[in-house]
Amino acid sequence: MIKKSILVTGGTGYIGSHTVVELQQKGFDVVIVDNLSNSYREVINAIEKITNIRPEFYEFDLCDFEKTHSFFKKNKIDAIIHFAAFKAVGESVEKPFMYYHNNLFSLINLIKCANEFNVKNFVFSSSCTVYGQPDELPVTEKAPVKKALSPYGNTKQISEEIISETVKTTSLKSISLRYFNPIGAHESSLIGELPIGIPNNLVPFITQTAIGKREILNVFGNEYNTPDGTCIRDYIHVVDLAKAHVIAVERLLSNKNKSNYEIFNLGTGDGHSVLEIIKTFEKVSGVKLNFKFVERRPGDIEKVWASTEYANKELGWKAEINLEEMLLSAWKWEKAINKI
Ligand code: UFG
Repeated sequence: MIKKSILVTGGTGYIGSHTVVELQQKGFDVVIVDNLSNSYREVINAIEKITNIRPEFYEFDLCDFEKTHSFFKKNKIDAIIHFAAFKAVGESVEKPFMYYHNNLFSLINLIKCANEFNVKNFVFSSSCTVYGQPDELPVTEKAPVKKALSPYGNTKQISEEIISETVKTTSLKSISLRYFNPIGAHESSLIGELPIGIPNNLVPFITQTAIGKREILNVFGNEYNTPDGTCIRDYIHVVDLAKAHVIAVERLLSNKNKSNYEIFNLGTGDGHSVLEIIKTFEKVSGVKLNFKFVERRPGDIEKVWASTEYANKELGWKAEINLEEMLLSAWKWEKAINKI
């Protein structure tokens, strides 16, 4: 049987690289396009080490229409998983134009080429940020999309709209996957999250503090309306997330989708507070974390966790890795990168 060829944009990034591994292990041919703006070429070697297959790699910016077009001219693609995007909430507030330009032009160029070259299957990397602070928890896919609190969040909302409008008038079929909080790393400790500079996200900040790269972890707020006063999120292991992408692609390729545009939450369904994360990390790593409470971070949602019912039922997918394993894998990864 001829292998299906999957274009993974942003395939050297955090979630992208883990998804490439899962796709290859399921027998797909993978082609990565990445401009390496927030990732490293060495990730290709790491992927090859894990799977014994070197993914094809093209380095260019998807905002460049000519390059994107000539890529599609050269490569026969069966499905696209589109990860490539800027993702730092705070940075997007400071540089909104950069975010709109990058995240929207790349999407538009890809869809234009998908239509021209008859690529019908498109999986999009979305976020639970589109729900804002939901009125009801756990949040289902039917919850209203609330006004975005950052240009980053707005690019995810606009992208979803662009896709949902496009599928009405073209032969494109699409699935948007709304991620909750991806953490952890591959069990090999060969790939993981590689934040450049000071991490924005909680878990990389925790592991960097534990290893001594950062002096102290600031916990943003302890008077929220939650049992221990700190914010609650639904943390999901990146490999569980990656596996859901493989299932989404298979669903589109085998025409099992129920409509031309489907949306699924990807979370575990469990909410954990910042203090719970700290305690669990201390337990699995054996390291006492240096932390202090500081002011709330502007724009933070108080509490959010997913209803996973729809994804469980329709995709036949369920997150399997528990919080202790998630944090242990993040810690092993931190220790591995510090050995290099
Ligand atoms: N936090 C701290 N200290 C830190 C970092 C984070 O206390 O140094 C807290 C935050 O206040 C929040 C929790 O840890 O309560 C999680 O924060 P993250 O930055 O790890 O994650 P967010 O939930 O803010 O953001 C994530 C993704 C975004 C996405 C958003 C959707 O990183 O891309 O979820 O809600 F938009």
